[in-house]
Formats: sequence, C-alpha cells, structure tokens
Amino acid sequence: MGTDHVRKICVIGASGKLGQYMVRHALERGYEVVGVCRERSVPKLAALEGRITVVPGPTNDPEVIRRAVAGCDGVLTVLVPWGVRQYASGTAQAVLDHARPGARLVFSCGWHITRDGKDRYSRKFTLGVRVATFLGKLVRAVEIDDQVEACRRVFASDTRWTVVRGSSLEEGESQGLPVWSRHVGDPVLASDLTRRVDFALFMVEALTDDALVQEAPAIVGRRTPSALAHAGDTRDPA
Ligand SMILES: NC(=O)c1ccc[n+]([C@@H]2O[C@H](COP(=O)([O-])OP(=O)(O)OC[C@H]3O[C@@H](n4cnc5c(N)ncnc54)[C@H](OP(=O)(O)O)[C@@H]3O)[C@@H](O)[C@H]2O)c1
Repeated sequence: MGTDHVRKICVIGASGKLGQYMVRHALERGYEVVGVCRERSVPKLAALEGRITVVPGPTNDPEVIRRAVAGCDGVLTVLVPWGVRQYASGTAQAVLDHARPGARLVFSCGWHITRDGKDRYSRKFTLGVRVATFLGKLVRAVEIDDQVEACRRVFASDTRWTVVRGSSLEEGESQGLPVWSRHVGDPVLASDLTRRVDFALFMVEALTDDALVQEAPAIVGRRTPSALAHAGDTRDPA
C-alpha cells in the first residue's frame, strides 16, 4: 500500500494527553478516526463527540483492538508502561496481530528504549530509568520492562512499523515537526525536550513518511538549542 492512501486511522490510547493531540492532528488532515481508551476515560473525549468513533475497552484486549483497527490504513499506539499485567506488550501484540497487512503502525515510547544498543545515555538518564523501573515495580504501578518487551516485539515484526522515541516532554504551542536522529547521544538531541503537541505531530506525519518505516527515530523539539545548533543534521530545516 502506498502511504499517500491513508484515509482511516486508529488511535490507541486516545484519551491521554498525547492521544488527544494525535486525534486532533489526524482530524485536521481529514482522516477518519477511531479511538480506543479505557471505559472510564471515555468522558475525556467528550469534546470530540460526533467527530470520532470511540471503542471503549482495555487496549491490551485483542478483541477490542481487532474491532477498532478493522479497515484502518494506519494505527497510532501510545505505549505506556502502566500496570503490572503486561499492558504495553499486550497492546503492541494485539496491534501487530490484528492490523491489516500493509497498514502503517506507529508506536510511541521514550528515549530509554534502544533498538540496536548503540544509544549513548548520560549517567543521569540511566540512573533515572533504573530508579523509575525499581520504584514502579515496588509500588506495582509501572512496568518499564514490559514497555521494553513491547518494543522488542515491534522491532522483530516484519510489519510497516515506526517506533517514535520521545524525549522529556512539555506542554506549550507547536514549534513544528520535531527533528530526529537514530541514536540518543547524537548532538542534535542534546536538549532533550519536545512539546507534547509536536510529539503527536511527528506520530501523525510518520503515517505518510515511508522513510520512517522500520525506523526508531529519537526526537527533539525543532526550536531547542541542540536542534538549532545542528540544523544541518535535520532533514527538514526551517
Ligand atoms: N511523560 C514524559 O515525559 C515522556 C517522556 C518520553 C516519552 N514518553 C512517552 O510518551 C507517551 C505518552 O506520554 P504522556 O506523558 O503524554 O502520557 P499520556 O498521553 O497522558 O498518556 C497516558 C496514557 O496512559 C493511560 N493510562 C494511565 N494510567 C493507566 C493505567 N493504570 N492502566 C492503563 N493505562 C493507563 C492513559 O489512559 P486513560 O486516559 O485511560 O487514563 C493514557 O492513554 C508514552 O509512549 C510515553 O512512553 C513520555
């Protein structure tokens, strides 16, 4: 399938901050949007009533995902490490199993995910991830290892996937499409900050960007000092 033929997409995790921004970008592009979120979170999508189809349910339920992705040309999945029941890997697996062959599959995660082990992290970053992993397990609320497993499965699949690795995030108006690089540690990424609305923009733009198929771009805001200083490294200079 050519990716200019994106018409209908599914946003999995539509009720969260990232999810809602993705829905809005997708609607702006004229896509038909199906959103999946937990039953209790459906009211968070009230402002979009009538503009999207909502399929309520746990995102790791294969039956929910099968219904939601039917007929979709693209699937945008928010991979969150919440819970202690393989929520992220269950979600990724359901998407890999049920999206139609040839569909564009775009997943979100953070810089801590590495595809080829060639990312170079600061000591502070590595320590932060270790502490979050440990504390998350301790309070039985966060399962970072499972987000790692989710991405391992995506990387191993022969689908048309992209795993977008987000830096630290902040709110604020759009600064345009973030810039990306293959490895954390590359100078262009040093500022480690992206507006959430632009993370969402990158996910939606990835649907029609074939250069991102089977890539795991690490992103950073295009107006951050490191992006500006290394503008020559960006694909799409302002
Ligand atoms: N926050 C950061 O600084 C940061 C940094 C790098 C990367 N990322 C990545 O960015 C993406 C989204 O980040 P975000 O901060 O913007 O979050 P977000 O969009 O607000 O997403 C939170 C998501 O988690 C779901 N959720 C919350 N508690 C849950 C639970 N107990 N069980 C199941 N699902 C639960 C929410 O669903 P409900 O609406 O149903 O609650 C929502 O879909 C993720 O892929 C994350 O790995 C975040």
